[in-house]
Amino acid sequence: MQKRVITFGTFDVFHVGHVNILERCASLGDTLIVGVSSDALNMSKKNRAPVYNQYDRLKIIQSLSFVDEVFFEESLEKKRDYINYYRADVLAMGDDWEGKFDEFNDICEVVYFPRTPSISTTEIIEIVKSI
Ligand code: CTP
Repeated sequence: MQKRVITFGTFDVFHVGHVNILERCASLGDTLIVGVSSDALNMSKKNRAPVYNQYDRLKIIQSLSFVDEVFFEESLEKKRDYINYYRADVLAMGDDWEGKFDEFNDICEVVYFPRTPSISTTEIIEIVKSI
């Protein structure tokens, strides 16, 4: 059976931590589907506008060879609907979300990967601001 993996994120100011998690997610199955947070969702989630708008962030993720399908994640409340709609067998996320999605164990396998140390969008923005 073909295994479908889904993951979610903002992926703003794309960096190697993003590449690593997406590669790891892809390694779990045959098809990788990525929900990219909409600008509005990002505002509500992180309390700041992303540096790259949602269309550019989606385009970057779509261009990766190990990503098969992309869509905008419009609401955190719709995770279950997205998992069902995209027929995901696995939900994979970085371990900053450890335990937060265990409720979806009834419809798919839930996997958390360790984050790549010492890099984040927030940190890059801070570094660039300070230069
Ligand atoms: N991620 C990761 N390692 C990092 C940074 C992010 O594995 N060093 C993963 C997150 O765990 C998540 C996905 O990448 O599953 C998207 O995370 P996102 O929030 O977009 O990236 P961050 O760099 O964490 O952004 P921010 O600093 O704004 O929180």
